[in-house]
Amino acid sequence: MIVITGATGQLGRLIIDGLLKKLPASEIIAAVRTPEKATDLAERGVEVRTADYSRPETLVSAFQGVTKLLLISSNELGKREMQHKAAIDAAKAAGVRIVAYTSILRADTTPVELAKEHLVTELHLRSSGLAFIMLRNGWYIENHTAAIASSLEQGTFIGASGDGRYAAATRADYAAAAVAVLTEEGHEDKVYELGGDVPYTRSELAAEVSRQAGKQVLYHDLPEAEYEKILAGFLPPVVAHLIADAEAKAAAGALDDDSHTLSRLIGRKTTSLSDAVATELKTPASSH
Ligand SMILES: NC(=O)c1ccc[n+]([C@@H]2O[C@H](COP(=O)([O-])OP(=O)(O)OC[C@H]3O[C@@H](n4cnc5c(N)ncnc54)[C@H](OP(=O)(O)O)[C@@H]3O)[C@@H](O)[C@H]2O)c1
Repeated sequence: MIVITGATGQLGRLIIDGLLKKLPASEIIAAVRTPEKATDLAERGVEVRTADYSRPETLVSAFQGVTKLLLISSNELGKREMQHKAAIDAAKAAGVRIVAYTSILRADTTPVELAKEHLVTELHLRSSGLAFIMLRNGWYIENHTAAIASSLEQGTFIGASGDGRYAAATRADYAAAAVAVLTEEGHEDKVYELGGDVPYTRSELAAEVSRQAGKQVLYHDLPEAEYEKILAGFLPPVVAHLIADAEAKAAAGALDDDSHTLSRLIGRKTTSLSDAVATELKTPASSH
């Protein structure tokens, strides 16, 4: 049995879709904070169990009878250290054999502040004695394409990453990697640095959007503090800070990667920037 936590999230749903193509539904468990959001998964034959990282008492029972667990990192920034630790401890108590974890690119060496909670989680998982698989996911292309509609209205993309390159890939690409390591043999105790095959800068993103939309959009680079202030207008301050920090560090290459490990794992090229932009222009994220 394979259990996926955070299975009602965007990445989790793609992973369940991928697993259902390879395994019978009876071998898949969706462990979710909000079971009411998972009725569609139950209708597809997937067992739905309640698993809230902040309520450790839900976790051991959610992980009973499971061989492999995919711990999808929580989106509650600042609480993740305790939440992930609780999930790993519960996996151990429930007799899970192997835990895969969605981490961040170069979690152990990156200067990106977002990585701190991921690194603590990785270290806890390593010291648990459980077999592990670290899926160190790079930036989601969707972090950028979600801003296409507003950038077209305003004529600019804003950011703080200068000419820094993003080896970004789509959630679907990262989901395919998770499906591969969960369903194939030979991935135990491996660390995978995952990123897109063709890194791009924010200016290249703006040029691609301009080309496809037939309307000029320019990239406007801002000082980190100014960018953070703008983000804080619509995001919680801690999130605004961490995103601005990651952007500024991307300027010096923190989100770049040329290992092609992701495309090797999934057996195909990662989704191109051009295809991701086309998808967003056709079906904006707000309508997904
Ligand atoms: N690489 C990147 O660029 C990037 C970008 C954004 C996020 N991330 C990370 O990748 C993760 C997955 O991405 P995503 O796009 O799928 O994010 P998402 O759509 O926000 O999904 C996050 C999932 O975490 C679940 N969750 C939150 N708090 C929980 C708790 N206390 N107990 C159990 N589950 C909890 C949510 O449950 P509900 O469905 O009940 O809300 C949701 O299913 C994120 O959580 C974040 O850690 C990475």
